[in-house]
Amino acid sequence: MELRLRYTLCAMLKIISRQPSSSESPRQGRGTELMHRDTLCATLPVYSGKFPTLAVISVLLMLLGGFLVHRRYLIKRRSIKLLVKEREEILSANTSGKSAKVFSGKEIKKSTNNFAKENLLGSGGFGEVFKGTLDDGSIVAVKRAKPGNAKGTLQVLNEVRILCQVNHRGLVRLLGCCVELELPLLIYEYVPNRTLFDHLHGVREWAPLSWLRRLVIAQQTADGLAYLHSSAVPPIYHRDVKSSNILLDDKLDAKVSDFGLSRLVELSESENTHINTSAQGTLGYLDPEYYMNLQLTDRSDVYSFGVVLLELLTSKKAIDFNRDEENVNLVVYMKKIMDGEKLMDVIDPFIKQGASRVEMETIKAVGNLAAACLDERRQNRPSMKEVADELEYVIGIVTGHQASKS
Ligand SMILES: Nc1ncnc2c1ncn2[C@@H]1O[C@H](COP(=O)(O)OP(=O)(O)OP(=O)(O)O)[C@@H](O)[C@H]1O
Ligand SMILES: [Mg+2]
Repeated sequence: MELRLRYTLCAMLKIISRQPSSSESPRQGRGTELMHRDTLCATLPVYSGKFPTLAVISVLLMLLGGFLVHRRYLIKRRSIKLLVKEREEILSANTSGKSAKVFSGKEIKKSTNNFAKENLLGSGGFGEVFKGTLDDGSIVAVKRAKPGNAKGTLQVLNEVRILCQVNHRGLVRLLGCCVELELPLLIYEYVPNRTLFDHLHGVREWAPLSWLRRLVIAQQTADGLAYLHSSAVPPIYHRDVKSSNILLDDKLDAKVSDFGLSRLVELSESENTHINTSAQGTLGYLDPEYYMNLQLTDRSDVYSFGVVLLELLTSKKAIDFNRDEENVNLVVYMKKIMDGEKLMDVIDPFIKQGASRVEMETIKAVGNLAAACLDERRQNRPSMKEVADELEYVIGIVTGHQASKS
């Protein structure tokens, strides 16, 4: 195309600069000139032969303009290709497991029907989440950063590279990202059954979760977090463990979402001196020690997980302004309840009703486990692995008991 344009341009120049040669009869020369003028006039009737030079210059300028625009387009396309290749290289550098995919803006726009409202799954601290269907039919969740929320492209790519390698059944898989559009996008596996928060506190769209199912969800969550703390390289602290970050799949199995997301959120030097709730955790789930000295360890996640255990036991929200002023915070409320040994009074009636003595004992055991996770001194809290093992043990008791009944 570029070549063709150049030829056209040259041919035009030849025609213009051509004078009748001495071997040409004046008739022939005039004929040629007339023919060219006719052609040009047909292209540009406005000039209708009066100002042939002007017409020719206009055509030339048009051609030159077209040529330059096309050249710019080609250069842009070439540099985009290079950039995508460069980004792909960053994402696959030093990866031992699955490497992340660079999605094109076009692909994601198409999959979400240009971020149509009907595909909006929800929104949170980082931004909005859309359901998308890729060309191969697979369904994804596309998380779009809020304006001014994400770090620079290079940092996003580096974080995404680490997070994409994490592969555990208890964790939502990050498939890749798209850094081509105005705002960076994270592309996740789609988990179809909403969040634990929705199941515990939402409008009753689903049957209440049984005690055994709650235990399984807790164990799977703990297992996923233990993996992040002990098996991921480098270790990953979630920093925002809460029931709305525990997604449920078609079998109501738990998948923890948004691990490491807070590292993708921009925190300037000045902002580092205070807690940004969307970036560093959510009110009601925050480890008080972290709040005090801003030192982040795996035990901050253990604390937040303790709050999720309380939610599973009581079906009460971590923060609820409908409760009495002194009980707005679930942890504060439950500490008073447990100190008075009144745990059973606040257990969700649905799991309490009809529970056997053994099941009641397991409810108490989980209450104690939650209290251990919520210990104010982090060194007294169990590790996530210990929590996961304890829950597995409790599940064994409940299933063993249920099997013996039937
Ligand atoms: N991978 C996913 N698959 C299906 N739905 C998802 C997925 N990720 C998020 N969602 C939906 O999008 C909603 C918003 O998620 P988002 O993580 O942005 O908000 P949040 O969890 O409430 O807050 P935060 O930003 O603090 O994590 C969730 O409540 C969930 O219903
Ligand atoms: Mg979330």
